[in-house]
Parts: sequence; C-alpha cells; structure tokens
Amino acid sequence: MNFKDKVVYQIYPKSFQDSNGDGLGDIRGIIEKLDYLQDLGVDYIWSTPFFISPQKDNGYDVADYYNIDLRFGTMKDLEELIAEAEKRGIGLMFDMVFNHTSTEHEWFQKALAGDKAYQDYYIFKEGTPDKLPTNWISKFGGPAWQYVENLGKWYLHLFDVTQADLNWENPKVREELKEILRFWKKKGVKGFRFDVVNLISKPEVFEDDFEGDGRRFYTDGRHVHEFLQELAEDAGITDMITVGEMSSTSIENCVRYSNPAAGELSMCFNFHHLKVDYKDGQKWELMNPDYKALNQLYQEWQLGMQKNDGWNAVFWCNHDQPRIVSRLGDDQNYWKESAKMLATSIHMLRGTPYIYQGEEIGMTNASYTDISQYRDIESLNYYQILLEEGKTKEEALKILGARSRDNSRTPMQWDDSEYAGFTTGTPWIHSPENYKVINVKNQMEDENSIHQYYKELIALRKKNKAVSEGEIAFIDTENDQIFAYKRVCEGHEIAVVCNWKNTACEQKLDGTYHVLLGNYAKTGQEICGSIRLRPYECYVIER
Ligand code: GLC
Repeated sequence: MNFKDKVVYQIYPKSFQDSNGDGLGDIRGIIEKLDYLQDLGVDYIWSTPFFISPQKDNGYDVADYYNIDLRFGTMKDLEELIAEAEKRGIGLMFDMVFNHTSTEHEWFQKALAGDKAYQDYYIFKEGTPDKLPTNWISKFGGPAWQYVENLGKWYLHLFDVTQADLNWENPKVREELKEILRFWKKKGVKGFRFDVVNLISKPEVFEDDFEGDGRRFYTDGRHVHEFLQELAEDAGITDMITVGEMSSTSIENCVRYSNPAAGELSMCFNFHHLKVDYKDGQKWELMNPDYKALNQLYQEWQLGMQKNDGWNAVFWCNHDQPRIVSRLGDDQNYWKESAKMLATSIHMLRGTPYIYQGEEIGMTNASYTDISQYRDIESLNYYQILLEEGKTKEEALKILGARSRDNSRTPMQWDDSEYAGFTTGTPWIHSPENYKVINVKNQMEDENSIHQYYKELIALRKKNKAVSEGEIAFIDTENDQIFAYKRVCEGHEIAVVCNWKNTACEQKLDGTYHVLLGNYAKTGQEICGSIRLRPYECYVIER
C-alpha cells in the first residue's frame, strides 16, 4: 500500500480546541472540528501524544501508553473521535514515543526501586557521581546522564532528565512496544508516527565524543533497521501508514527506512532543510536562510530517495518548528503570497505532505516579548544557557522569538473573539495579537484565502497523477532565488516554479504551458517562453 495521494494534518491537541473551558485543548475539541478537516480534504490526522504523562515535555514523556491523560479526555472520547473521523473518511495516526519513557512510567519506577529486570529496560551504567559515563549532551541542553544515588548508577536521557531512554537491545522491551501497537490498532487507529525513532539503537560500547555531542554514536544506530522491521512485522502494521521522525539522518538510511521492500516504515521526516538558517549548524545562532543550500538539499533528497524507491514525508511546520511564513516568508508585507508560495513549493514535491494546524491559515510566530510567556522546556533551558553564555536578555529573547518551539504551539486561531475562539477559559499559552485578522472565520469568507489555496493544492494531488506519482527532475539547478522542478507521469507533465524572495526575477520555460494554480496568476492563463515572477510568486503549470 502506498500513501502517495494522501495528505496528513497534524494536530497539537493541547492547542487545537478546548471543549470544556479549562484552557487546554482536548479530544472533544478535535471531534468538534472534524467537519472543518473534512472540508479541507485531508486523509489522516496525526495527533501528538495524549497519553498519561506528567507533561514535562508536553506529552512526549509518556507514563502509560494504554491510557488517555484525563486532561485530554477519556477512552470513550477517543473511541468516539476514531469513529467520527472514520465516518468522514479520515484515519487517526497516533504518536508513539518509543525512544524513551517518562521517569514516572511504571517500568522506570520499578527500576528505581531496585528491580534488575526493569533496570534492563533502560540504559543504566554503574558509576560514581563524580564521573559521567560519557560526555554526551542532551538535546535539551546539559549532560545526557543522570545519577541515581541509591542505585549507584547513571541512566541515559537523550532528552529531558525525566525522559529515560529505553534499551531496545532487550527483547522484552521490544515485545512491550509491539503490544502497545497491537492494542491501538485494535482500537481502530490507522497509522503511527514514531518519535525520534532513528535514535533507538545505542552502541555496544559507550565512549566520549570529542567531535560532537555524542549523536554520531546513536543516530541511525547499528540495529535500527532490524528493530524497525521486526516491530512492523510482529505488530502487524506493515499495511498501515507509518512515518518515522529521523534526527540528523542520511539519505542512505532513509531509503532503507522507507523502501517498501524493506518493510520498516512508509515514509520519513528529515530536518536538514530546516537548518539552512542555523549558523554553523547551531539552532540557537541566528542567520539569514541560505537558499542555495536549501535548493541543493531538496535536489539531493528528492533525487536520492527517488533513485532507490524511498518515500519522503514533506513538511515545513510542526510543533517543534517556528512558523514557516515568519521564517522563510514575509508575514508583514507578503503574508498571503509567501504563505501560498511556501505551501506550493513542498506540496508538489515527491512525497506525502503534512500540514501542521494553523499553517493552512498562515499562522505566524508568537511575537512574545517576555520570558514569562514561554512554556516549552527546551526554550526555558536554552534561555538560561544563552544568558550564561553572556547574551543579554534582549538578545536571548530575540533568539527565542525566532527559534522557540512555542512559536508553533500557540492556540489555533478560529475567530476574532477573545482567545481566538480556542477556549472560554484562560489559555495555557497565549496567542499573538494578529489572531483578530488571521483566523479561520475570516478566511472562510475570502475566496482568495490561504485556506482556500491549501484546499486547491490538496485537490490537485487527488486528481493529478503527476503530483502524486510523478518522477521528479529539477530545473535550473544552480539558482538561489528560484526553486523549480517538473513532475512527469505517463507522459503527462507539470512544472512548479517558486520565487523564494521578495524581489522579482525571471525563469525561462521550454514551451507553452497553462496555469493550474498560482498565488498571483489566474488558473487557465497561458504562458510561454519565460515567466516574470513577482515577490514570492509561484506557479504550478501544465503542458
Ligand atoms: C521529538 C518531538 C519533540 C519531543 C522530542 C522528545 O522531536 O517531536 O516534541 O520533545 O521528540 O520526545
């Protein structure tokens, strides 16, 4: 089974819709909005985790994989969500955080109480408090190890100290995880997203990293392909849509993860294209985007995956990334144009597109001015680290303003009423002021809206096989302002031309085309010879 003509919509339940006025989004809130999602035309909803969790990392710290956190609702609500979604032709994808559990998980608690069998579920190393097992750095800052006094042992946490890494080398752990997947499949869940799943296989020997933060020892690790293949097969999920979140991965590995013959996953997320504005690869160092690098990355990944039958999940936004219209677009002067162009640039690529809640209405970064407005554990940690490094408060806030994960976690902007129609209570996190203009209600009344444009992009994938199945080839590969490619299927050809920047430019064409979709041009319009692209202009054209 392939998922080439499908589109996935990502929901961050905490910020999507609050049905009971407690300021937190919930499952009933999602049910209320299913008609909205059906109208948009999406096939699947991937929801980030709503399992029982202390919420130190907003649910990515799972304490019980079989039960729903009461803050989000009950099992009955969930069953209703699955059934109601299905009635509308939408499948639910659950987020499986299997690299680590919360330290509040029963397994970890038993380990702490001295149970050796459960200590073997995690990565514990004997030692003394003065000597870390390795010098690895956690992804959220600080050392990746925590000492447990009464055990005389350290445990590994690649993320927060409350997120202990599981030991996948232990077959019992793998059995437990398969059982969780079987349970949810039986409940009617149609697919899974696997959190940081290329980090699950740790090295045999743990050693210091004198070149980096340790990631080269556990990224795409020695048994990762075997583990994923075994998981998919034994849990019976090979016919379901599955996507792996891959941290700092390679094309070669992603081909293996997503090649249908390997039976591991249906597709992969990688993040290389979202580092083109990191100075020296550092998330917390600002830099203008390098479009040449961006174009090159797309070429390498699209062609590399195509060559060996790999499949991409294509996306700009998720709950960990700042809003794309504020990042690569211009959310002040070319808000609509740049949001539509950015959508076009990826929706026509070879891969399954993912839309993150609010992206379809051009939601922007949060524009917070004070650290008290932030909630994310990574942002709060790095704010302190930046100050310790000697940055002023203003500098640190400017960096957070561009890079914090909270930029995408602000409430979904439904209308212009108080709190954007997200809640009748006090929201757990605040909206940017622009919700009065940027909201679903306004866009439903505008036939030229960003929302309408997303609907058209989705519809185009469904009716045009070149979009879903076509071979990709790039045009004008040295350009750093224009991003252009062709998709060809059974002799039918479309081309996509996007202007990344706010200045005009020109692109030569090799014949006569007509416009299928554009953010300035009218559908049906004929063009030949060359096109002049206005700021952030984009075209999808057909021979
Ligand atoms: C993934 C999630 C992120 C989480 C991390 C640890 O990157 O998307 O939100 O913090 O994994 O689970």
